[in-house]
Amino acid sequence: MSSTYQEWVQREQNSIMHTYGRYPLAVAKSAGCRLYDPEGREYIDLLAGIAVNGLGHCNARLQEAMLKQAATLGHISNLFYQEPQILLAEALLETCHADKVFFCNSGAEANEGAIKLARRYMHHIRHADAHEIITLEGSFHGRTLATLTATGQEGKIKDGFGPLPEGFRTIPFNDAQALRDAISPATAAVMVEVVQGEGGVRPLAPEFLETLKTLREHQNFLLIVDEVQTGLCRTGRFWAHQKFNLRPDIFTTAKALANGLPMGAVLASDEVARGFEPGSHATTFGGGPVVAAVANEVVKIMREERLDERAREVGELAVHHLSDVADRHPDSIVSIRGQGLMIGVELAFPGQEVWKALLDRGFILNLTQGNVLRLLPPLIIEEQDLALFASALDDVLNAL
Ligand SMILES: Cc1ncc(COP(=O)(O)O)c(C=O)c1O
Repeated sequence: MSSTYQEWVQREQNSIMHTYGRYPLAVAKSAGCRLYDPEGREYIDLLAGIAVNGLGHCNARLQEAMLKQAATLGHISNLFYQEPQILLAEALLETCHADKVFFCNSGAEANEGAIKLARRYMHHIRHADAHEIITLEGSFHGRTLATLTATGQEGKIKDGFGPLPEGFRTIPFNDAQALRDAISPATAAVMVEVVQGEGGVRPLAPEFLETLKTLREHQNFLLIVDEVQTGLCRTGRFWAHQKFNLRPDIFTTAKALANGLPMGAVLASDEVARGFEPGSHATTFGGGPVVAAVANEVVKIMREERLDERAREVGELAVHHLSDVADRHPDSIVSIRGQGLMIGVELAFPGQEVWKALLDRGFILNLTQGNVLRLLPPLIIEEQDLALFASALDDVLNAL
């Protein structure tokens, strides 16, 4: 380990709260699909800031949009009308069936807003005593008190933070019968990731989806889809729910929206958006002109360059390369799960050693659920980089 790395670790430990299990890597520079440590060693970025840098690092058009906006109108608060926010809302609404947007600053905040909107709509518009939010095991919805309660995982995420808010219920993943049993007149919403990210790149099963759609036709609950990780072309469609033929009443997004500047959004139908009125929900920073201008450019580039199609095509090539590796290592690789450029390689054993060996070879990715190597590369990644990764994984598994 270099002296710069050792020094940063020491200073970090002396100054920053210990909430992160950081990777043993210091990063000083980034460009495109590459990260560089302080000594200039290059890494292939297959993580993109955890599905954030969809357009890669240091994109010139985004830099220009940010500087131009910062030099024209920076922060003014949501007390005023400003065009970048309106333009972004209009651009987002062109990509989906929703009618209205609320801007905020993160994924957790977007999900918190979605939960509040569902409850308030039920209470104020439907005059129904329906407050319960049903979520799935393995889900991840954020770290605020409501969203960590919604999160279907136990352990450090929840431990010691009680009492947790009431009105949340978690059911087993993809269990259609459990969903039927859980829905009641008290249900405000069912909230799902159509492909669980932290949960190990796990899509909703067809039977569960059918049950969900049928129940929606006959019961009064709302459907919230958490697209914080899956949104903005990641899975091969602009929004993942489009791939699964769902029309959520509310969906959320964040990570890739401003390519690294903090931004989240709640999107909803006109009907459900009536649940909010002036004073019922707000944020100081959400949808500020600078982040909105950058997000506008992100959406424009994604649509111009058809990054949804690109994610689908390059994702298929990646799965093809990885499947070859899986064929050569049937005892080590249980499955390859690909949804566009959201790819999970499930190992038959704890993956820390494999993950570390790949990092040492210059590949940055994530290990989730202890045994799933998760790839969330920039949507502009070249097939060649993914082929290099597959070959490195092959070598690492050979050396075990
Ligand atoms: C599906 C999903 N929802 C919500 C969140 C929380 O987002 P944030 O960290 O921006 O609050 C995440 C973050 O990983 C996520 O993957």
